[in-house]
Amino acid sequence: MSTIPLFLCSHIFFLLFLSLRCSSQKTCPNCGSIQVPYPLSTNPNCGDPDYSLRCDPGSQKIYFDSLNGSSYLVLSIMAASQRMVVQPSAWLPDRCVTQDMLVSEGLWLNQSLPFNVTSSNTIFLFNCSPRLFVSPLNCTPSSLCHRYLESSKQVDRKRALQCASALDPCCTFVAGGMPSAYKIRLHSSGCRAFRSILHLDPEKPAYQWEAGLEIQWAPPPEPACKTQVDCSGASKCLPAGISGRLRCLCNKGHLWDHGLGTCLRKKKNTKAGLSLKVSIGVISFFSLAVAITAITVRRSCRLSNLEKKAIDFSRDQDDVNLATYVSQRVINGASMEVVDQRLLGKEPLGDTMTSIKLFLELALSCLREKKGDRPGMKGVVQELQCIIQIVDQEEVSIETL
Ligand SMILES: *[C@@H]1O[C@H](CO)[C@@H](O)[C@H](O)[C@H]1NC(C)=O
Ligand SMILES: *[C@@H]1O[C@H](CO)[C@@H](O)[C@H](O)[C@H]1NC(C)=O
Ligand SMILES: *[C@@H]1O[C@H](CO)[C@@H](O)[C@H](O)[C@H]1NC(C)=O
Repeated sequence: MSTIPLFLCSHIFFLLFLSLRCSSQKTCPNCGSIQVPYPLSTNPNCGDPDYSLRCDPGSQKIYFDSLNGSSYLVLSIMAASQRMVVQPSAWLPDRCVTQDMLVSEGLWLNQSLPFNVTSSNTIFLFNCSPRLFVSPLNCTPSSLCHRYLESSKQVDRKRALQCASALDPCCTFVAGGMPSAYKIRLHSSGCRAFRSILHLDPEKPAYQWEAGLEIQWAPPPEPACKTQVDCSGASKCLPAGISGRLRCLCNKGHLWDHGLGTCLRKKKNTKAGLSLKVSIGVISFFSLAVAITAITVRRSCRLSNLEKKAIDFSRDQDDVNLATYVSQRVINGASMEVVDQRLLGKEPLGDTMTSIKLFLELALSCLREKKGDRPGMKGVVQELQCIIQIVDQEEVSIETL
């Protein structure tokens, strides 16, 4: 009987805990109209300091600063896929050379930081040295970089002629491997400018190709901290990673879950772990069955302490079978009538009601007459795993509160 109240308490605790935790990862304010999702950071007091971007106070635009002094304007940020698109460097006047060639010899990323160039980028290199003809890059006359110069309408005629000629070719390659995930090098004995196309489709006309350089970031690690005070229960403030920055590292036996922003107890990934889960599922299910029976008995016999049987012809006709009694209430949308009011409290949360309803529906689906209509043990266990997860996480939340 104690299963349900415990579960409900834990559920409420869990939701409360989640809302507290999520807000403790400090998200940076918008920069102009662009949202800056966690872990991206535009100042030292928000986001994660390793995921630094620059919000220009004057223009209210975001810039991605690469090594040796080059900056790239951020055009869009896709938080869900942990990617952003930046604008390649501007051209120097009347030349097929980009600014980042002079400033930094192209785009160089710090390999100790979590950013890299994705394989969605097809890179065109321009104004290259003839030496490049013998490189693994495609610098042939049929290379797609020629189509870009001729028909994308993104390069004016005069510059296009400087960008590729019989002696100085242009070349094409797909980024994302090593070293191109961290470096698109421009120099006088290589190439002097680059442009990037996202998800290039050679079937489409070149003027429909989308320009932009896509950069992804690694999922955020544990939050940075200055002292132990910044860390919650299951973690310690210790130096971490290549940078040696202090972070709230999870205690032994716990793993960082960046989605939830908390340390979760490590799950054993063994057969023993699985069978444990199944046993918990089966046990929970039987506890549930017992609980429902107990609730129903309590309801149908009010406060009398007589022991009730599941089927008893001495009771009212409608209440002979307790299962029928419960299913009638559920069908009539009055499922809360068969639940002990103490479980609900004065103002039950929507989630509490939903979970009780799901429990009841699952239990009743097991009482259906036809075998084919009843869920298999696997289905029941799957439904219950949802609940087990919440119970698992609740253990952690109580530990860290
Ligand atoms: C750019 O920075 C990297 C790392 O500091 C360095 O190895 C490289 O030589 C630099 N390139 C230029 C052109 O300064
Ligand atoms: C680029 O970053 C992603 C996400 O962190 C990572 O999975 C991938 O291995 C990195 N690519 C390279 C070439 O390092
Ligand atoms: C690369 O990033 C690490 C970690 O933030 C930093 O310590 C290091 O100085 C950076 N390297 C360069 C060349 O900026």
